[in-house]
Amino acid sequence: MTTPDYAEKIPNNVSLADDRRLQRALESWQPNFLTWWETMGPTLPTQDVYLRTAVNVGREGWAQFGHVPMRDYRWGIFLAEPDPGRRIAFGRHKGEPAWQQVPGEYRAELRRLIVIQGDTEPASVEQQRNLGATAPSLYDLRNLFQVNVEEGRHLWAMVYLLHAHFGREGREEAEELLHRNSGSADAPRILGAFNEETPDWLSFFMFTYFTDRDGKYQLGTLKESAFDPLSRTCEFMLKEEAHHMFVGTTGVDRVVERTAQVMVENDTDDVAALGAIPLPVIQKYLNFHYSVSLDLFGGETSTNVANYYTAGLKGRWMEERRKDDHLLDSDSIMVDALLDGDIAQTEVSALTGLNTDLRREYIADCAGGVKRWNRILDGAGLPHRLALPHQAFNRKVGAFAGIEASPAGEILTAAEWEQRKSQWLPTDTDKTFVRSLMRPVYERGKIAAWLAPPRNGINGQPFDYDYVHLA
Ligand SMILES: [Fe+2]
Ligand SMILES: [Fe+2]
Repeated sequence: MTTPDYAEKIPNNVSLADDRRLQRALESWQPNFLTWWETMGPTLPTQDVYLRTAVNVGREGWAQFGHVPMRDYRWGIFLAEPDPGRRIAFGRHKGEPAWQQVPGEYRAELRRLIVIQGDTEPASVEQQRNLGATAPSLYDLRNLFQVNVEEGRHLWAMVYLLHAHFGREGREEAEELLHRNSGSADAPRILGAFNEETPDWLSFFMFTYFTDRDGKYQLGTLKESAFDPLSRTCEFMLKEEAHHMFVGTTGVDRVVERTAQVMVENDTDDVAALGAIPLPVIQKYLNFHYSVSLDLFGGETSTNVANYYTAGLKGRWMEERRKDDHLLDSDSIMVDALLDGDIAQTEVSALTGLNTDLRREYIADCAGGVKRWNRILDGAGLPHRLALPHQAFNRKVGAFAGIEASPAGEILTAAEWEQRKSQWLPTDTDKTFVRSLMRPVYERGKIAAWLAPPRNGINGQPFDYDYVHLA
């Protein structure tokens, strides 16, 4: 393990200085990255922000906190510590030593997997770029920027792999990652959910809860990869990702908490006029973000994903904790399907059903958030509850893409859907209302009326700390 060299132009723990060609290639990508950050990154001008910066990968002290101008953030390349004896845990190469180089036969597939993951990282920065203008507090503004710089670092993580292991094609892909933009008409981001806007902070909290969580599961499968540099890269990214989950989970907590408080104090469900977000609107945002995030897992069955697994490129969530043969060629799984027009299940081979396996892990995790938000409502003495909509609701990918279903899972005709969808998905009126609440609060220790303050500050600092100095 090399000691991270933090003084270098590109901080890293991959001995970049020993590979002049690679170092030069990455140093010539760096200004393009900075130009992208300046033109597509956060729009709110700031002097500096109290940020966490990754400086090491050890169990202790992997990050340092301090006020830094965002442009000078040290985006570095960090891979988790190597396990020299690591062996492949699944698939056809199970038991063989993990690969330090890309096998020629899997080059195209691995590159594709890395590009798809890499594409989501800068996409979310682009989606969130205008949120600073309406931050509900300096604490939240700081968390937004923390997520943004780390997604920028995740782009670096993927670009490092492309440059280090995929030659000229890798370098071209690295350029393309800066060229595609979220929502662009001619060069959009690869995945649908990453071309949606994040126009307000309720969307931001829902995005970091539901869509960043999809990222967590994708990284979890890549962490199992036989290609060791990819595995170690993703392992370290997951460490940072935990904070993004925290921002989403506690963000929605605090929205629900504030709404519940206003409901109880005024003995009414109709809190819009009182400056809080009504529960039905929160439910609609939840419905939207959950359903588009389910689509990110792809179809119920996939031969590509089966091949990735057998080849050792991408494993399952918590692969090594699974009690089976890790080959799966004689196992089966029940997956969602549309049978004679009805929502049903069908049995397929476990290998082709791997997307379903991962989506199920994700759904169980999402249910945990709903449980905690309902506990907040319960604690406030309210009978109202939030719920995850049925998996067939609002899907554009997979078995249910061709039908419309209510959140309860009843199949609807196109006409019924058109008539009723405004009850379940945010309408223009809902969005306009939520946006009307989004007025910036930049005063230390103050917070917007629609959101409860956090229980704790960041890194032991109080809530009223000067997390951000505006320009
Ligand atoms: Fe990320
Ligand atoms: Fe993230």
